[in-house]
Amino acid sequence: MKIELVTDATAGGKKAAEYFLAAKQDGVKTFGLATGGTPVTTYAALVAGEIDFGDAVSLNLDEYVGLGANDPQSYAAYMQAHLFSQKPFAASYLPNGLASDLAAECARYDQLVAENPIGLQLLGIGENGHIGFNEPGTSFDSSTHLVNLTESTIKANARFFARENQVPRQALSMGIGTIMQAKQIILEAYGEKKAAAIKAMVKGPVTEAVPASVLQRHENVIVIVDPAAAAGLD
Ligand code: F6R
Repeated sequence: MKIELVTDATAGGKKAAEYFLAAKQDGVKTFGLATGGTPVTTYAALVAGEIDFGDAVSLNLDEYVGLGANDPQSYAAYMQAHLFSQKPFAASYLPNGLASDLAAECARYDQLVAENPIGLQLLGIGENGHIGFNEPGTSFDSSTHLVNLTESTIKANARFFARENQVPRQALSMGIGTIMQAKQIILEAYGEKKAAAIKAMVKGPVTEAVPASVLQRHENVIVIVDPAAAAGLD
């Protein structure tokens, strides 16, 4: 893993956007995208920059079950607001949280990933070490699947909702096996709440108890962290 220490989330977003531009210039056609608080500065930097995604494809990591694209809390709406409305892709895909047959939706999404191999995957990390919505204990071989969110994740994400009981309890997420197929991975983490997860990811044993630790087995991972998130590293 290559660690990029930056002063703050704004500088980290700019750094991540530089990697996006380099990947694009290198011929990458498919970008894997994340949501949540962390990548907001990356999307702001991409929007402010010259990059053109008009001939590229995006595939998001995950979506809440029960929320459609018209719901402002959905990840589809988040992506529209932060990136797609200003930097449209030729095609953008997220799992459909309203699908009536969730197993079929997971299979459809895996097929999309197979048809559009991801050149650069952007990740955040949960306080419990999750990547995507792959909670501790998820198989490293997993493909897109239905996830029951843990209490820790529900609590962490409650800040985006009016009340904690509005946070959906389930999500569809790319699996860890799917994420690991990306040619290059950028993981961003900012703030002291992420320090323990970053330490376990970088220095701990590779274990399904810490999903992000699997990234030690990937040969092209860039970790962008601020000093608070990097507090447990040497
Ligand atoms: C979001 C996702 C999650 C988040 C993680 C951190 O698409 O896949 O793994 O990256 O929960 O969330 P934030 O950035 O809000 O701290």
